[in-house]
Amino acid sequence: MSPMNAQSQIEPPLGLILELTHRCPLQCPYCSNPLALERAHDELPAAIWLDVLDQAAALGVMQVHFSGGEPTAYQALPRLVARAADRGIYTNLITSGVTLDRARLARLAEAGLDHVQISFQDVQPDSADRIAGYAGAHARKLAAAARVREAGLALTLNFVVHRHNAQRVPRMIELGEELGAGRVEIAHVQYYGWGLINRAALLPTRAQLDAVTAAVEAGRARLKGKLVIDYVVPDYYARRPKACMGGWARRFINVSPAGRALPCQAAETLPGFEFPSVRDRSLAEIWQRDPAFARFRGTEWMPEPCRSCERREIDWGGCRCQAFALTGDAARTDPACALAPDHELILAAVAERPATPPAFVYRRMEGTQPSRTASAVITSK
Ligand code: SF4
Ligand code: FES
Repeated sequence: MSPMNAQSQIEPPLGLILELTHRCPLQCPYCSNPLALERAHDELPAAIWLDVLDQAAALGVMQVHFSGGEPTAYQALPRLVARAADRGIYTNLITSGVTLDRARLARLAEAGLDHVQISFQDVQPDSADRIAGYAGAHARKLAAAARVREAGLALTLNFVVHRHNAQRVPRMIELGEELGAGRVEIAHVQYYGWGLINRAALLPTRAQLDAVTAAVEAGRARLKGKLVIDYVVPDYYARRPKACMGGWARRFINVSPAGRALPCQAAETLPGFEFPSVRDRSLAEIWQRDPAFARFRGTEWMPEPCRSCERREIDWGGCRCQAFALTGDAARTDPACALAPDHELILAAVAERPATPPAFVYRRMEGTQPSRTASAVITSK
């Protein structure tokens, strides 16, 4: 097959994740944003995002996820939602909820927003606010979730779970029911970027993990047909890795606030890559021809044991960013896999989990050097 034929077989991306801004009132210690956060003055202007949305529709993208940081901090958000809706793309807002007041939500609903995903840090307000580093965040989230349902929009609650809140998963599921959510996501922390820095503070025990899994299974049985419960397991206790992003450059394009197109949110941590910018390249060109997107797509790049493994087109060799973060080489098998030559690294991290968790290193904009703080600097708004 000629290279051109090979390229023309690439399926269009299912979803486009627009990280409109890294500005955010919260400071979660497992934030999926990169350690080096982008500043407001580097953010793309609305005109470029509007063009990106037009291109996405032409490319066949089905869903757009407006994310961040806190995407409502980007002023032109309603215009972007309206453009995506006008082009027939399903629109999802991924928000902390703390700034989603009635007027803002009304503008977004009017613009055609389909779905809102609100992240919760816990169900216990003091713990939730401590994890978020923001006093009163939990109460604001509850109010925002109620408003989303009043506005008739679909709602997902997202809970990131770890050693500090794992015991409250049954209550998280109940909260989803009470708030009228259609979906609850129970997602264990993924340990790269901020999560990796805070691994010793967040990693649950095996017993905690088992209890969470049991709670999810019980919730699914009880709420079948009423509430969907998604479950993201922690790599550190898995025998096989997850298919990160559904496979490198297979289903999603992520665009950073400054306009860099990435196969995943953490890809900029990988050395030796020149990720293209939507300022000067079209989405179609990036998706179909960019070498950074092609680098780990499919199975050709795989080393053993992935290359001859029966799961190679199920998990796609796991997470490239985790492989790099733990081994220094993005092309190695994800150490989360029990078959990986570097699996010892995962076992050692579990064995070294401290009985007393260290303080969080909060996600903060200032500087590029994260600093450990004894307690949250709580900011009120
Ligand atoms: Fe997945 Fe590779 Fe492990 Fe097989 S060897 S399960 S393809 S990571
Ligand atoms: Fe980058 Fe998994 S986060 S491939």
